[in-house]
Amino acid sequence: MAQYDVIIIGGGPGGYNAAIRAGQLGLKVACVDKGIDGGSTLGGTCLNVGCMPSKALLHASEMYDAAANHFAELGIEVKPKLNLTQMMAQKATSVGQLTKGIEFLFKKNKVDWVKGAGKITGPGKVEVTGPDGAVTTLEAKDIVIATGSLPSGLPGVTVDQKRIVDSTGALSLPEVPKSLLVIGAGIIGLELGSVWRRLGAQVTVVEFLDRITPGMDAEVAKTFQRSLTKQGMIFKLSSKVTGAKASKTGVSLTVEPVAGGDAETLQADYVLLAIGRKPYTEGLGLEAVGITPDKRGFIETDHWKTSAPGIWAIGDVTHGPMLAHKAEDEAVACIETIAGKAGHVAYGIIPSVVYTTPEVAWVGKTEEELKAEGRAYKVGKFPFTANSRAKINHETEGFVKVLADAASDEVLGAHLIGPSVSEMVGEYCVAMEFRAASEDVARTCHPHPTRSEALRQAAMGVEGWTMQA
Ligand code: FAD
Ligand code: NAI
Repeated sequence: MAQYDVIIIGGGPGGYNAAIRAGQLGLKVACVDKGIDGGSTLGGTCLNVGCMPSKALLHASEMYDAAANHFAELGIEVKPKLNLTQMMAQKATSVGQLTKGIEFLFKKNKVDWVKGAGKITGPGKVEVTGPDGAVTTLEAKDIVIATGSLPSGLPGVTVDQKRIVDSTGALSLPEVPKSLLVIGAGIIGLELGSVWRRLGAQVTVVEFLDRITPGMDAEVAKTFQRSLTKQGMIFKLSSKVTGAKASKTGVSLTVEPVAGGDAETLQADYVLLAIGRKPYTEGLGLEAVGITPDKRGFIETDHWKTSAPGIWAIGDVTHGPMLAHKAEDEAVACIETIAGKAGHVAYGIIPSVVYTTPEVAWVGKTEEELKAEGRAYKVGKFPFTANSRAKINHETEGFVKVLADAASDEVLGAHLIGPSVSEMVGEYCVAMEFRAASEDVARTCHPHPTRSEALRQAAMGVEGWTMQA
């Protein structure tokens, strides 16, 4: 029986980062991973069917859209022709390089990659069924569960990955749909809806709530919806889907107003179901160690420890935002705690990003959250129309909004909408980690001309001395 210090079940951002950190700290570590959808590559959802392939298509489709619709105003006249096969191929190449990169990092950090499905059979014991059906047993003092999540289903809407797809199917459609219906105006719906809209599809998004992207600051969400609508995306809010019927050539979707009223039938070439994800623990053997997931299927933890001694859980399978960088932070903190160090995750400072055009990025509290807490706060805001770099690039959409405590001036949240804001929000994450005041950002020299100057000008606005708007 192979003996380890730590066995990690799952090779996504939670699992692979935990394995690497364990290797760095000199622990003998195995990472058991069964791959995604029968595949045999490391990286979990994020690398194989999540963050990376979606960003590959978002980038390529953005370039296509820019060439078709925006190059001319810069004096570049081209007529782009879509080669969808090549667009999919370049996505697969990049994903392949990234998953190979994790294999390299495993070797570098002496992590044993054990291919197969892991099942906990008792304290410190994991049984692995390999791709060839062979069963081996591993033993360790500590086991880390990082088994991730799967797309949530909707009664009456059967995903066949042909006409009715989830995010995985939507990353590999064989053609540009003439029409695409998206169920759920969340991050997946808007990112993948944007990809296919840019390539030529008529995209309609059906959302249960009366707003898009719940969790996003409401003012930003309104601006975001307006912008997506201007691009041609159609929103049907406060609407519930009651059924979907697929044929060989398309889908009909029955939709009803949430408040009651007549049902209508919408037709489209394809339907994307994107109403959230659920934790994945099937076949994991939790019962063998007395762990019962909560009502929604999450494994409950206290500082990454489950109720069973020596068993830990991180990433999408446990509470918190289902984000790769949250899984990564928990991986490091969990392994450092196992190694006797002080693990820590700043849960209030986990950024969120929607990689559309415009991008939306935020960290910390929204105005709605601060109001609900009854916390007095000040607002500083700066529009990209007043930012010189945005102006010369003809990319003036959006703004930066900073929220700071009314008494102490501590930055409580930052909300950004506009091109490239995904690369800019990190500045506010660092500021918040150091519990900076908005004045600290306002008095920090920023390079000119850059879009990042908008971060400073917005911070100046908290004390009312924005200079360039
Ligand atoms: P996962 O990545 O799901 O990995 C779990 C791994 O465990 C999988 O390989 C699975 O096969 C394996 N496994 C499960 N059970 C067993 C078992 N019993 N034995 C062995 N192996 C097992 N997040 C971001 O931060 N940024 C983004 O841009 C982003 N884009 C996304 C786009 C899409 C389309 C989707 C679907 C998700 C996206 N996410 C994004 C979310 C991100 O992918 C997840 O938050 C992240 O992958 C969670 O990591 P994890 O390690 O917890 O789980
Ligand atoms: P989501 O939680 O972001 O959004 C789901 C949307 O569907 C919500 O607006 C919700 O109100 C709506 N909804 C729920 N039930 C519905 C119903 N029956 N009918 C109509 N609408 C309904 O979930 P999504 O988009 O599936 O993404 C899952 C998760 O994956 C995200 O929450 C995020 O954690 C992660 N992700 C992160 C990305 C990023 O960081 N850029 C990109 C893609 C996914």
